[in-house]
Amino acid sequence: TPRGLFDRYGRRATDMRLSLTDKCNLRCTYCMPAEGLEWLSKEAVMSAAEITRIVRIGVDHLGVRELRLTGGEPLVRADLLDIVSALREAHPDLPISMTTNGVGLDKKAVALKEAGLTRINVSLDSLHEETFTKLTRRPFLDKVLAGIDAAWAAGLGPVKINAVLMRGINDAESPDLLAWAVERGYELRFIEQMPLDADHGWTRRNMITAAEIRELLSRDFVLSPDPRERDGAPAERFEVRRRDNAGAETTGPVVGTVGIIASVTEPFCADCRRTRITAEGKIMSCLFSREEFDLLGLLREGADDEELAQRWQDAMWIKPKAHGMDHTGLGAPDFVQPDRSMSAIGG
Ligand code: GTP
Ligand code: 5AD
Ligand code: SF4
Repeated sequence: TPRGLFDRYGRRATDMRLSLTDKCNLRCTYCMPAEGLEWLSKEAVMSAAEITRIVRIGVDHLGVRELRLTGGEPLVRADLLDIVSALREAHPDLPISMTTNGVGLDKKAVALKEAGLTRINVSLDSLHEETFTKLTRRPFLDKVLAGIDAAWAAGLGPVKINAVLMRGINDAESPDLLAWAVERGYELRFIEQMPLDADHGWTRRNMITAAEIRELLSRDFVLSPDPRERDGAPAERFEVRRRDNAGAETTGPVVGTVGIIASVTEPFCADCRRTRITAEGKIMSCLFSREEFDLLGLLREGADDEELAQRWQDAMWIKPKAHGMDHTGLGAPDFVQPDRSMSAIGG
């Protein structure tokens, strides 16, 4: 039996999230500052060969069963297709998914599918051009919509859509966003904003909570718990039915599924199965961990598989029990926002 990425609290990480780059072509306000961040140098970032080696160690030695490619924005990496092909060749049965903002996806969806990508999640916070542009600070709504269509057509589904809700910006739009997704067969997930923005502008008051999201959606829909096993997933899923015209609850057909990712108010840390590798090859046991372990540095010093696997295990052993953001609404005096933004850690 392979060794595993266990921690002190009895969890085992089997779900690997690997960031391909810290760069991004959008500037979402909940993630990046308008001017962008200081990007890592090319040498600091893992090469395709280094990525392949690290994934192989995870899968062959440490029981990783699922891989997700993240960023920054993974599509900005010029050798993305080579990376996916190499990973697929090395691991014929590994589920390999990608989380992307969708910009440029229309041109690459078919090639990604052919290279062996399994499925895709796309971030989309608004269907209104003005709101989209305000939120992402780039006028690329049409590109993202084209990317989503192309991913679906290329067979990269089931396509999941991620929407972070922000008070007074896109929260009122949530039922329309769900109607749009349901019509097209996409699985929409609403996400509570986490304090991972580079500008440190997150406030509890402006965060739209899971409870509020359910309330907002109840204008047009009736949600009931999805019977499928949650299986450690961050999203709690609901079956979606339409409300009838009179606004009454209906017993009509299930028209789709919606997920709510309530990282702050309903944390799922106790069931977390994640291990993350940043674009510069550092192990992060949690989005909010204070310590990073330099796996790539060790690899470049010539360490063998055994030593690399050992460092990874050591890093995961001290995974924090929970992120410590409080969910009582009273404020969490000892919670300190990480120095790095979501884009720098890896989404
Ligand atoms: P699926 O297997 O497709 O359901 O993937 P996923 O939902 O795990 O992945 P995705 O990259 O689409 O992430 C969705 C959202 O989950 C992100 O936008 C984050 O807000 C949140 N998220 C991702 N990783 C973590 C994590 O380690 N901890 C917490 N609390 N939230 C996370
Ligand atoms: N809080 C919650 N989700 C975030 N994402 C980026 N920043 C945050 C944040 N502060 C999401 C994006 C994308 C994924 C990579 O992470 O919307 O779907
Ligand atoms: Fe880019 Fe994703 Fe951050 Fe938006 S959330 S700026 S798309 S990395």
